[in-house]
Amino acid sequence: MDLLAIAITLLTIHVGTALGYYGWARGKAVPYDSAVVQPTYYPFVSVVVPTYMEADRVVTKLNDIAAQRYPGRLEVIVVDDNSPDGTAELAERWRAGDDVKGVSVKVIRRPRREGKSVAENEGAKAAGGDVIVFSDADSLWEPGSLEAAVRALSDPTIGLVTCLKRPMGQTSWRGAESAYRGLNNLLRLAESSSHSTTIAHGEMIAIKKELLGRLGPLRPGADDSDLAHRTAMSGMRAIAIPNAVCLEAVPRGWDAVLWRLRRGQHLVAHFARAMFDAPRAPRGYRGPLAVEAYLHILNPWLAAAGALTLIALALRGSVASIGLLVALGLAVGLYPGARAWAWNQLMLIASQLRNLVTRETVWRKLRK
Ligand code: GDD
Ligand code: MN
Repeated sequence: MDLLAIAITLLTIHVGTALGYYGWARGKAVPYDSAVVQPTYYPFVSVVVPTYMEADRVVTKLNDIAAQRYPGRLEVIVVDDNSPDGTAELAERWRAGDDVKGVSVKVIRRPRREGKSVAENEGAKAAGGDVIVFSDADSLWEPGSLEAAVRALSDPTIGLVTCLKRPMGQTSWRGAESAYRGLNNLLRLAESSSHSTTIAHGEMIAIKKELLGRLGPLRPGADDSDLAHRTAMSGMRAIAIPNAVCLEAVPRGWDAVLWRLRRGQHLVAHFARAMFDAPRAPRGYRGPLAVEAYLHILNPWLAAAGALTLIALALRGSVASIGLLVALGLAVGLYPGARAWAWNQLMLIASQLRNLVTRETVWRKLRK
């Protein structure tokens, strides 16, 4: 085979797997709807919010949790790592206020910073609820999300529930239907109806306390997806549901690049570990786990190798290569989806390379 054929093959495999998975997801992404769900399941819920330097967000976050108007008993546990910006004091003042709307708040002050998952584990230990919901301080929930997530847990086969995501400040979605927008949400829904989602979001991780006790503590890195993975491996399901939607604060400018890089690093490291469980994974989860691991780890390199080969051939005057590069350039230039995809491939490659240097399990607070 000549080099041009090799480049075309690599790019075809790269695009083909992604499109194939997308096609599978389109047919599979039916919203979770089970007869086992009890409409009036209102267990005691503990929301655990780890905070580091969240002074400008923590009050909004507490108000947002209260605004969910969860019908059952609800406590919020803020676990702060001695943030110098007064996050803990603000949370305590919120608790003292008379506007607390039936929500009880505990504030745990840890002496020093040890990373998000350590704080979450301490919060979980202090939690009295039958359901624990981990949630980042810089995230908000669409109305009704908490109740919907908790209700899905009344199904005995479901151990963990996470949300779909949309960036904060984007024009609002109308109804669950539009929650299908966005490739990532589509994939999460499809994987969830197949068995379990391969990626879960720290903006909302609702888990039965008894299951968490069996699975053991959260681990640093992609603690959220790792917990969903261990749930699925235990035989219970970990699902994303369309009526739980999280809004997340997104950093701007250069910070957004560093942010994606770190999250990419955590995710890539997670899949590099988790993929070895695929042979033992429950049916329905095995396939998505293997494909997502491939998409995060190997597939980006196929695109890079294909594109670099084309560039090398173009420099040597290959007209076909120049034509292909122009076509690819046009696709990336004209279609925002293709641009986002290409950018993501670059970030995944950079993430893998940076993982060789640092794992960044404790990270700098980025301004959002
Ligand atoms: N107590 C404590 N100690 N909380 C922390 C620490 C820490 O050292 N570091 C971060 N947090 C808190 C933040 O205050 C926030 O509430 C939450 O953990 C998430 O941290 P962010 O700084 O907002 O990180 P992110 O949005 O980029 O994190 C995303 O990716 C992570 C994996 O890379 C989220 O999805 C996280 O849930 C996920 O773990
Ligand atoms: Mn965040």
